[in-house]
Amino acid sequence: MQKIAINSGEDMKALFGSAFVITDTNLDRIYGGMLPKNRFAINAGESNKTLYSVEKVVNAMLKYGVKRGDRIAAFGGGLVGDLTGFVASIYMRGIQWSFIPTSLLAMADSCVGGKTAVNVGLIKNAVGAFNLPDVYVETKYLNSLPQREFESGMGEIVKMSLMDADLYEFMHGKFDAVEAVKKCIKLKSDIVEKDLSDNGPRRALNMGHTVGHAVEMLTGLSHGKSVLIGMKLETAMLRDLLEHNYFYEIQSYLYKYIGKMPLNLDAEAITVIAMSDKKNKGGISIMYPQGIGDIREVVLSRSEFLRLLKGAM
Ligand SMILES: NC(=O)c1ccc[n+]([C@@H]2O[C@H](COP(=O)([O-])OP(=O)(O)OC[C@H]3O[C@@H](n4cnc5c(N)ncnc54)[C@H](O)[C@@H]3O)[C@@H](O)[C@H]2O)c1
Repeated sequence: MQKIAINSGEDMKALFGSAFVITDTNLDRIYGGMLPKNRFAINAGESNKTLYSVEKVVNAMLKYGVKRGDRIAAFGGGLVGDLTGFVASIYMRGIQWSFIPTSLLAMADSCVGGKTAVNVGLIKNAVGAFNLPDVYVETKYLNSLPQREFESGMGEIVKMSLMDADLYEFMHGKFDAVEAVKKCIKLKSDIVEKDLSDNGPRRALNMGHTVGHAVEMLTGLSHGKSVLIGMKLETAMLRDLLEHNYFYEIQSYLYKYIGKMPLNLDAEAITVIAMSDKKNKGGISIMYPQGIGDIREVVLSRSEFLRLLKGAM
């Protein structure tokens, strides 16, 4: 079972107890003064979630003398977490890592379940590994999070709320970020515990990601916003499978968090990227909410996917 401490005040102990810390340049600017000196800051931004950044981090670790028995730590959002976890998986054939998530998305979602990866070209998370970190969530870091990134985190929280009636109801009341983080960690941990390797119930968490990953890579919109747009388009593509009133309920719920849809989305380009999605088995896989808490899969041929996507746009 993954160790996840929430607001335990152990973040500094975890950081200073690690042999090396990886963060990004934005966080380094804000929090560098309180972080250990043995650290490396990758350039912030999804375009830096690359093998090139992996090489830079590995070089810094080698220079610093990080050894096989050592533990490293990630201090940052989902990008820093995904990249550090991947480095931890391959550095000297694998070392341990801790994660102090600083964004809403990383606290509520990406710190749970040990998926680590970097992008290759336009393919999101094309190379990666499963590697569970010890996690120290401190929600005080949300105080410095820019609004755009807060909204991105809301994207994954809204997605998870379609998987659980209790969370869905919670999202229709007064929003409390700390409570939302706790609920999402519990929900995702329960799912991952049953299916670490993403072959069963965990696949439900990929909802919105088939179209969403393509939108993210093509537009540069935030991850969470892209997932919401992905969910809106995917449910519209599959509207014939959904009960009429429920379809409109979901569409307006998603719209509330997306706001204006981007106008320049290219269905052909999304389809090309979706074809390379690693979830695919014999066609393009879409996870969709048949009802709240009832997530199902459809597999579409390239031509069906493109036709339905064009119809949904
Ligand atoms: N491993 C998983 O299970 C999983 C799940 C969902 C998403 N992801 C990945 O996570 C990434 C998105 O994560 P993200 O939204 O955290 O993006 P991110 O890590 O790029 O962070 C977004 C921005 O917010 C800044 N930031 C983060 N915390 C801050 C803070 N406390 N104060 C001020 N600025 C702060 C960062 O510097 C960055 O500029 C994507 O690469 C996505 O693929 C992984």
